Amino acid sequence: MKNETYKKLIVANWKMNPSSAKEAEELSGTVQREVRGLKNVEIVLCPPFPYLSVVGALAKGAQSCHWEQKGAYTGAVSPAMLKDMGCEYVIVGHSERKQYFGETDEIINKKVKAALKAGLKVVLCIGEDTRDSFDSKGHWTHELDPKLKEQIIGAFEGVKKSNIQNIVVAYEPVWAIGTGNPATPDDVLSAKIFIRKILSNLYDRKEADKVRVLYGGSTNKKNSAVFIKEGQADGLLVGGASLDSDEFVEMVKSIYENS
Ligand code: 13P
Repeated sequence: MKNETYKKLIVANWKMNPSSAKEAEELSGTVQREVRGLKNVEIVLCPPFPYLSVVGALAKGAQSCHWEQKGAYTGAVSPAMLKDMGCEYVIVGHSERKQYFGETDEIINKKVKAALKAGLKVVLCIGEDTRDSFDSKGHWTHELDPKLKEQIIGAFEGVKKSNIQNIVVAYEPVWAIGTGNPATPDDVLSAKIFIRKILSNLYDRKEADKVRVLYGGSTNKKNSAVFIKEGQADGLLVGGASLDSDEFVEMVKSIYENS
């Protein structure tokens, strides 16, 4: 794969944390101070909705959105509202949304299209549940697992070629999330090649190569650089480690130094 020159993207998914706006402000304030001047990395903090206004100058992202822009959907937040709040990105399709909120590939596709329509960039999460698709030589392979392919095809259904570069695909194997058991750099590289291959079949090679592929799942300051260098990830989607400002800043710096 040729060397790609755009900025590495580091997305912090805070999930349902921290417990107060004060802590959220401190966390984002520290990150902001410490990463100032690191020009070739793009950092997006995705706090819970009530803390969006405390994230400040760093790029903002949300963790989910509804598929309509307004209306009688009690408890929901629309992509248009997120855009108005200054969000640039929204995470769609996280496995926790599927597990706890019943999101299906169809709902994910509606959200992707609604987010793009509102002018947001999408961080689309895909990933298999278990690591059990082995070839005859015992090598684990994405090619044998229909799940990833289905998720990609489902999410991109009806998305125009001119819009696919506004989707960033985050390869987040469910077995690696919050387990302390990350994928290997080889897994990440093969996922990236696989994702781009499916997209080039759906669209074309030139456009598919513009779609950034992130890795997420048990990343930390010690292992992040290797996913970029050896796994050729275009960035990371970070969960637990993004809640510790020192750890997260170290991750950002190690990516900065290695990209
Ligand atoms: P962890 O980094 O805590 O494994 O979470 C990954 C994740 O789910 C990010 O969206």
